[in-house]
Amino acid sequence: PPKISPRTTLDISLKFLETMRVQLRSDAICTLCLVVALFTMLYSQLGHTSHREEKVEGQKKTPAATHRASRVPAIFQKESNVQTQASEPRVILPMKDAKLESQEDQVTNPAPLTRSTFDFRLYLRNKDNRKFNLLINQPKKCMRSSERPFLLIAIKSLVEEFDHREIVRKTWGREGLVNGMQVQRVFLLGIPKNKTALPTWETLVHQESQLYRDILLWDFLDTFFNLTLKEIHFLSWADEFCSRTKFIFKGDADVFVNMENIVNFLESCNPSEDLFVGDIIYNAQPIRVRKSKYYIPETMYGLGMYPAYAGGGGFLLSISTLKKLAQACTQVELFPIDDVFLGMCLQRINLKPISHEGFKTFGIPKPSAAPNLQTFDPCFYKDLMVVHGLKIAEIWLMWNLLHNPRLSCTQNKQIRKAFRWKRKTKDAAKNYAA
Ligand SMILES: *[C@@H]1O[C@H](CO)[C@@H](O)[C@H](O)[C@H]1NC(C)=O
Ligand SMILES: *[C@@H]1O[C@H](CO)[C@@H](O)[C@H](O)[C@H]1NC(C)=O
Repeated sequence: PPKISPRTTLDISLKFLETMRVQLRSDAICTLCLVVALFTMLYSQLGHTSHREEKVEGQKKTPAATHRASRVPAIFQKESNVQTQASEPRVILPMKDAKLESQEDQVTNPAPLTRSTFDFRLYLRNKDNRKFNLLINQPKKCMRSSERPFLLIAIKSLVEEFDHREIVRKTWGREGLVNGMQVQRVFLLGIPKNKTALPTWETLVHQESQLYRDILLWDFLDTFFNLTLKEIHFLSWADEFCSRTKFIFKGDADVFVNMENIVNFLESCNPSEDLFVGDIIYNAQPIRVRKSKYYIPETMYGLGMYPAYAGGGGFLLSISTLKKLAQACTQVELFPIDDVFLGMCLQRINLKPISHEGFKTFGIPKPSAAPNLQTFDPCFYKDLMVVHGLKIAEIWLMWNLLHNPRLSCTQNKQIRKAFRWKRKTKDAAKNYAA
């Protein structure tokens, strides 16, 4: 305890200074701690601690009900297709309950992560290079008939996927009349990335072009991240060479399309009005997990949510909308996920895409109540428009089952053919008698 003396004041001020120093030191420590904490946060945000980061992401996603309810994981789309293809049973009904379940699957098993070498900086540097030559054209695609074509089918395909093109040509992608409406078809191709896998690719596409007149080939490498180039080149091609058509269906080659339903639907639409219909994904969030195939860094897309966009498996648009989109997309910066890119173009022209129940671009989920059920029922496909994730043989089979004139589905039978159904039982009774 300090004595009372003349030096007291000095003593007191010394003491004061000392406590100040202590305080300052603890302040400095606090600041240091905060800085460290901040850096740790930044570090993990940037995904350096990728393992932990993924866990966090996973936990975040499962309870993000808004996320799922508004059916986000289109970003997982390609991967989940692989999944659907691998597990062959594709099943009928309890659709509505099943939907959530499957999306949970998509979210909780984010599939094999394949991306490793996508160079964002290179992409950003090259993204003004967005005009490539058309190497094979079909300038008369929409000119041949005197009447305007009703529908143009445009199908994304890889040169190597000859078998997909063949089956589409033979089934739902046939040219000619559907319900009395003229339908035309083109395949959208780029240069194969691995030319040694199919050294004859050039001869093949020229031969296909000569025989079927349905090949469009552009001079860019046909990679996943170049699909956006395919999108913009197709839009400007259709604007230039096929503006006589009334509607356009754009989709993948591994889908099943019920073209009769599509045409029926479109018959009530006006080609000179806006129309954009598909499996629309709302409120999808960019994936910030580095290892994901769909990883998009903040530097490339800073917002927390993508605009509404259509699953790329298949969607419909009017020629009027196509013209607007072709123009709008020239002003949107290239973005490596093509579905989202088109959503950005839609947003630019302030056009709200319409979601339609008939578009199942994530495939048909297995009902959770009967995960082992294996059915392949054409009666279910009768009411759909687009189903993603079918194998080639399944596309062929479904198309043939659906076009069998003897196909009758119980529901319809009960409503429309009750009389015949009765007679059948009579026949059966007769058989018994005999
Ligand atoms: C290209 O395809 C060939 C034959 O399928 C394969 O052996 C080769 O590894 C592939 N190259 C690349 C870079 O993928
Ligand atoms: C897209 O195609 C161009 C032209 O062929 C090529 O240089 C580029 O590497 C491709 N980009 C990607 C991301 O594959």
